[in-house]
Amino acid sequence: MHDALKKEISTYEHRTPKSAKAHRRAETRLPLGVASNYRGYEPYPIFVKDGHGSRIHDIDGNEYVDHNLCFGVLMAGHSHPAIVKAVEQALEVGTTFGMPHEMEWELAEEICARYPVDMVRFGSSGTEVTMHACRLARAATKRDKILKFEGGYHGLHDTALVSVKPKAEEVGDANWPNSVPGGLGIPQGTLDNVVVASFNDLRGVERRFKQYPDQIAAIILEPIMMNVGMCMPQPGFLEGLREIATRHGALLIFDEVKTGAKLAWGGASEFFGVKPDIITLAKAIGGGVPLGAFGASRAVMDLISNHKVFHGGTYNCNRLSMSAGLAMFREVLTRENYAHVARLNKRLSDGYRKILAKVDLQAYVPSAGSNGSLMLYPEEIRNYRDWLKIDQDLWRQYWFGMVNRGVLPQPYWWDEQWTISVQHTDADIDKHLAAFEDLAPGLAKVQQERRSAFVDAGQ
Ligand SMILES: Cc1ncc(COP(=O)(O)O)c(C=O)c1O
Repeated sequence: MHDALKKEISTYEHRTPKSAKAHRRAETRLPLGVASNYRGYEPYPIFVKDGHGSRIHDIDGNEYVDHNLCFGVLMAGHSHPAIVKAVEQALEVGTTFGMPHEMEWELAEEICARYPVDMVRFGSSGTEVTMHACRLARAATKRDKILKFEGGYHGLHDTALVSVKPKAEEVGDANWPNSVPGGLGIPQGTLDNVVVASFNDLRGVERRFKQYPDQIAAIILEPIMMNVGMCMPQPGFLEGLREIATRHGALLIFDEVKTGAKLAWGGASEFFGVKPDIITLAKAIGGGVPLGAFGASRAVMDLISNHKVFHGGTYNCNRLSMSAGLAMFREVLTRENYAHVARLNKRLSDGYRKILAKVDLQAYVPSAGSNGSLMLYPEEIRNYRDWLKIDQDLWRQYWFGMVNRGVLPQPYWWDEQWTISVQHTDADIDKHLAAFEDLAPGLAKVQQERRSAFVDAGQ
């Protein structure tokens, strides 16, 4: 670990002793001391006290401008008044009945107005809805295999947890990536039915369809791969996938758990002008309350209507989620708020770019909708294997450095990105940019030293 990173971590430890203590206690009862593996990191995570608008406080009393926003869930920001009101009202009239109520249709209408689907079913998480989407595609095509992209994340069910973060030594030939389980417990049968290709490689996708003729039910992807920072689809990639899927009788699933609400009013299909067969939504559509949805054409969803594919769930359409979802679509995810967030995101990403040029830090900043990311690479990444080459310690210096300056620039881990909420303001962007301007020369210095050491070592 280099000295500048050691110094930032030591400052972090001085600022957050109560988090260190809370984490030690949590470890006694919770594996890794956290509720989801993504939340754990060295030396320990920050424990949160509260969040309001664009800011959170930790239990040591530090305030942060929050661009983690629960891994992008809170496009609404914390405790948005419309969500608070909707949820409070729902609490008063009963939270869940296990019986239909009228909000279900109302929310389905909102979704069908924005995304190219005719019918919708609801769930509580992204994992749940991508699982149902894969099952629907398998049923619709009477095929078993799902094609996914190396590095793509679609949740935690068996089909999804393949080749999410395979190690460099496991990935195999770039033209024929291995199907690597994301941990123990994934049956071999599942691995055999998940075919992997490289993002932005249409020829690779075509090769897989030739290898398994009439066996691939669907291609599932995030239109912007957001599990490797931000990996943009190259021009023609999404259109190409649409064409290949149609030609081979497979379905195209856009996993819009992240992009659906955060990229544009009508999600990725509006942003990129490509129409998938199935869309999955979660995270931001619930405004901080667990809510997921999947939608497709009437023909595909009729598999459920005709009792051919089973879908259910005790918490589906509970009133808390439905109320929060309606408030999100009607009062938060408005065209005006998208314009506000887009303006702030442009200010933030342009600001980063100017600072990068000034200090000569080799990096770039992709941004779209409410998301952006500092990508510490000399060139734009096109797929997971490019992303593997990041200088992780330099990124850690960035993250801890920003946190020590009162800005959570994004969730911890270099595979994430920042989110800007509708409650962020110009003052938040000023604070974010001031913190980065202060930090960037140190990052550039370390990067240059590490590069010279690399050259001196004759590599
Ligand atoms: C693209 C995508 N799909 C699915 C999921 C899984 O969602 P959840 O964590 O709600 O199960 C995530 C979560 O990060 C995601 O980013």
